[in-house]
Amino acid sequence: MTTSSQSKSNFNTRVKDLQNQLPDLLISEDVDDLKNYGRDWTRFIEPKPCAVVFPRSTEEVQSLVRWAKDKQQALVPSGGRTGLSGGAVAADGELVVSLDKMRNIISFNADDRLLHVQAGVTTAAVHAAAVEQGLFYPVDFASSGSSQIGGNVATNAGGIRVLRYGLTREQVRGLTVVTGTGERLDLNQGLIKNATGYDLRHLMIGSEGTLGIITEVTLALVSPPPPLGVMLLGLTGIGDIMPVFNACRHAGRLTAFEFFTQACVEQVCAAHGLKAPLDEVCDCYVLLEFEQATEADEAQMLAAFEQVLEAGYVIDGVLSQSDSQAEELWRYREWISESISHRTPYKNDVSVRIAQVTEFLQSLDQLVTEHYPEFEVLWYGHIGDGNLHMNVLRPEAMSVHDFHSHSERLTDVVYGEVARYKGSISAEHGVGILKKDWLHHSRSDAERALFMHIKQVFDPSGIMNPGKVI
Ligand code: MLT
Ligand code: ZN
Repeated sequence: MTTSSQSKSNFNTRVKDLQNQLPDLLISEDVDDLKNYGRDWTRFIEPKPCAVVFPRSTEEVQSLVRWAKDKQQALVPSGGRTGLSGGAVAADGELVVSLDKMRNIISFNADDRLLHVQAGVTTAAVHAAAVEQGLFYPVDFASSGSSQIGGNVATNAGGIRVLRYGLTREQVRGLTVVTGTGERLDLNQGLIKNATGYDLRHLMIGSEGTLGIITEVTLALVSPPPPLGVMLLGLTGIGDIMPVFNACRHAGRLTAFEFFTQACVEQVCAAHGLKAPLDEVCDCYVLLEFEQATEADEAQMLAAFEQVLEAGYVIDGVLSQSDSQAEELWRYREWISESISHRTPYKNDVSVRIAQVTEFLQSLDQLVTEHYPEFEVLWYGHIGDGNLHMNVLRPEAMSVHDFHSHSERLTDVVYGEVARYKGSISAEHGVGILKKDWLHHSRSDAERALFMHIKQVFDPSGIMNPGKVI
């Protein structure tokens, strides 16, 4: 058994060796860097990396991975560190590979409408680059200012417009990846059609750094959407969500259909000093965004609103009259996560088929209330995609550690129900460390055995983000 001082001295020797082998590589052992770069937004695991490195090119990543393979040094790829499942946590002496210095926009091709970027470019910078070309990159979420495109691809990030444009996977036309053997793969190279066997690009998307490090990404940009309208509706109960969803998607082209409860509204209002969004206090709310190219589009959506109001599904509602009002309405949904972060919430990110989502939500809510009446639970999510975020709030007096152990017991109840509905235990946040022990609820024994074989092929030395996903 090694003592902590022995293992620390091993780390230092390792880092010195790395410095000698790759003298141009930026390396930090600064205590603050170790803490910052050793974790993501999860707060349940103490970061303990041996060092952080900042490669600047695919070639430098290749040299680094070859060195790590030789030394059996575990690597943790790290993007904007906004993950919520511990996928970028280095808690066991790993070397963190930050993509922070790989922020170049490499090229744009107008005929192909393809943007080629290094993996460390932020989602917001991709949005801005698309706008500069008169185009649009549709994947968006609250953390887009700091999340990086490599991390988005590694977790197949979702967000608020999946309903209209799909997940990150749908936007990726090419990837450069350095596998666990140090080999460089240039996958799909911007093609739309490519029927030449296994599409390894799609294997890398969502692999959470367990097969290789994504260093460059080629993204398909799309035409900008027409002006968008936003409507926030207060509902009588969860059971009324589906008829409202169906009426609205029949009336126009939806770009988002989000859901949250009154408890979420209270948290956002308290954290940001906002007033309630509607005159009526409602059980739950949906926020929908729709394409409003003509006046007829608005009229049709208003007619749908009248219809659901008359049917008694909706109590009250508001339609944005300007872009700034639309932005204000979005705050009630987009600010929930950040407003509750001081309560170190225990997050579940689950999905079922859309047709089952309200029944699933009702049954889960009942189970949680029955088994754990002492927990304060917030529900919100991308209900138009069948994706719910269940956030259990830590009682102010309970330590983070005790709260985590308590919440894990609740997770067995939640995931049991997810399995009954043949749903997913992680819809968009990834598996990371936090969800790993429950993967069998969503993936069969045969699938998990294949995961292991695939890992073995791309990373035979087991140095790529060990302990994550499988
Ligand atoms: C969201 O939908 O707000 C994000 O996935 C973050 C979260 O779940 O807290
Ligand atoms: Zn989400």
